[in-house]
Amino acid sequence: MIKVLAINGSYRGDGITDQSVEALAQALELDGAEVEIILLREHPIEFCLNCRACTQKPGEVLGKCVIHDSMQELIDKIEKADCYILAAPTNFGSVTAIFKRFMERLAVYAYWSWDMNGPQFRKAQATKKKALLVSSCAAPGILGRCFFGTGKQLKMTVKTIGAEVVGSLFTGMIAKQQHPKLPERVKTKIKAFAKRLI
Ligand SMILES: Cc1cc2nc3c(=O)[nH]c(=O)nc-3n(C[C@H](O)[C@H](O)[C@H](O)COP(=O)(O)O)c2cc1C
Repeated sequence: MIKVLAINGSYRGDGITDQSVEALAQALELDGAEVEIILLREHPIEFCLNCRACTQKPGEVLGKCVIHDSMQELIDKIEKADCYILAAPTNFGSVTAIFKRFMERLAVYAYWSWDMNGPQFRKAQATKKKALLVSSCAAPGILGRCFFGTGKQLKMTVKTIGAEVVGSLFTGMIAKQQHPKLPERVKTKIKAFAKRLI
């Protein structure tokens, strides 16, 4: 059975990001996949220390972080999954801070010894696993997709873990209600969208 790992960086229970990820998970499960959703807000991980201890050894084997928290468990799940959903709302033109904190701890996926100017992705040559991106914003979706940093940051996360983006769902004009409900047109889109992953 295909294992899908969804990593959701929304702060809000039952917000648009949660509803989008849940709807995607339901569609994927109907198509026979097994979906695990990680809510980063329930998964405490520390900030990266920028010590680069994890980036010093070359090769495809991931580096080891000096911080012993639940990030390792998350990395094990990433490695075991066949494909991904990466989700974060847009806050101040970017992914949420909690998603950024998760991203920075993915430094273990880079080889960057002290004599190198920049990092190399350990998984750059790996077989590509598929990933779907999910975000939402107050602005129209097209603006969110083209002008905010969120899309770029979600894409960078996908590249870092050795996967490739097969679709992105940006739901815009969604912030005028305290408890917004996922519009029917988005629910319909999600059903088709899920098929790109599996
Ligand atoms: C602190 C904060 C900052 C935000 N910044 C932006 C922004 O820069 N651009 C935008 O279009 N929407 C922005 N929004 C709106 C959210 O992206 C939008 O409400 C989103 O759907 C929230 O996701 P959620 O429903 O999963 O909580 C912001 C919301 C908050 C609370």
